[in-house]
This record gives sequence, C-alpha cells and structure tokens, in this order.
Amino acid sequence: MIVIKSEQEIELMRQAGRVLDSIFKGLEEIIKPGISTKDIDNYVETICKNNQMIAAEKGYCGYPASACTSVNEEVVHGIPDKKRILREGDIVSVDIVVENKGYMADACRTYGVGKISDEAQHLIDTAKESFFKGLEKCKVGNRLSDISNAIQTKVEGEGFGVIRDFVGHGIGKEMHEDPQIPNYGKPGKGPRLQKGMTLAIEPMICEGSYEIDVLLDDWTAVTVDGGWAAHYENTVVITDGEPELLTLVER
Ligand code: MF3
Ligand code: CO
Repeated sequence: MIVIKSEQEIELMRQAGRVLDSIFKGLEEIIKPGISTKDIDNYVETICKNNQMIAAEKGYCGYPASACTSVNEEVVHGIPDKKRILREGDIVSVDIVVENKGYMADACRTYGVGKISDEAQHLIDTAKESFFKGLEKCKVGNRLSDISNAIQTKVEGEGFGVIRDFVGHGIGKEMHEDPQIPNYGKPGKGPRLQKGMTLAIEPMICEGSYEIDVLLDDWTAVTVDGGWAAHYENTVVITDGEPELLTLVER
C-alpha cells in the first residue's frame, strides 16, 4: 500500500531533507585525499545531533553506522571504517537517511576525491542526470515505471549499466515503503502517480556488468567485474505541478 502524506507530514520530511542537503554541502569541503570513511560518518552524526535529528541508518536491520560510504567498485552499503583512507582519484558514494520526529528523508551523492579520471566524472554525472530524467516523469497521472524507463534509457545511452539488485522506494514513517522503484523497465506499468506520494528515487549505475556480490561483512555490495559504481538519490514529493525535491535546496 502506498501511503499518501499530509502537508504536515511532508513538512517534517522537508525539515529532515534540508539537514541532509546541508550535510552534502559540508561534505564537499571535507572529502579530500587522506580522510577516512569514518570521518564522513562522524560528520554526518554530528550534524544530525546538532539539529536534533537522528541518522536513521544506524541500527536499521543491524547496520552499524550513520552513513553508507561506498568506494569505487562498491555499489551501496559500504561500512565506514577509520582504516579506509580515501586516495586521490577515488570516488565515494555517501548515502544517508535523516529522521525528524518519526519522518525520514533519504538521499545520496557520489563525490570525487581530489582529481578524478574523465571516465569516473562521466559515471558520476550520468547517475545524477539519469535521476533528473526520471524526475521529469514525476507528474500526477504518469505511471511508476515511466520513471524507471527514463533512468535506464539515459544510463544505457551513456554506455553504463543499471544495477538490478537494489531499487528506489516510497519513504515516510518507514525508511522503505511501497512502491519499489526499479531503475530499469518498460514504461507505462505500475501504479499511477498521485499527489502526496513521497518517493526516494535512486539510480545506482556501473561501468560494466550490473552483477553484484555482497562482501563477508554482510553489507558491502560490490560489482563482480570490479567496474566502478555511482549513486545519486533524492526524496521527491509528487504534487499537482512540478515535483518537489525535499533533499536538494538550490544555492
Ligand atoms: N539509504 C539506503 C537506501 O537508499 C538504505 C541503507 S540500508 C541501511 O535505501 F541499513 F544502511 F540503512
Ligand atoms: Co533509498
């Protein structure tokens, strides 16, 4: 069942989304060669606390940290570690859920560490651009898989692959609500979009094959072929007009 949110509920999610946006802007300054992925986690934890909000990933299904930090061939759910030092040329996806009075917002950005290759930059840019192709379909009356198809078309058009094993999702009181939102598929399928739906849309894309493995820590998902991956996510509200992005505030 897809839960439609009231304006009051959306406002709580909006407040969480603004904190998330400020964390991502802060991380642009912090992510440099020589920092560890644990430094990222500590920053996320501190900013949430300072804003009386909760970093909701910690404890979710036993997840041990306040952010997911996935480096290079890691796709999602990389666990922050003080021994994982970022080096010039790496890319790191930082995926965070912020909870405000029981309501959640979820978003992810992939950062380059120092100077990165043109191919890595193209991968990062394509993840973001494919999100915005999906966003164009976020109109009342369109069908859910119109979003999926727009994302897949963009990603494959740039020569990259779409991860199949992880999908976007509804979000609100729960981190993961209905519907599931694959980043691939034929258009014109699934439920029609309605005002008040809150959706976490999150293309996860890779250089090569979309096959993944999960490491022995039971969390970190990596590409089987070692190709690098990028991830871009925002929490979106369907409205009568343009969709609203709760986790991206224009500068
Ligand atoms: N934020 C992730 C998502 O986009 C979920 C992370 S799983 C957790 O859905 F265990 F780390 F919370
Ligand atoms: Co998500």
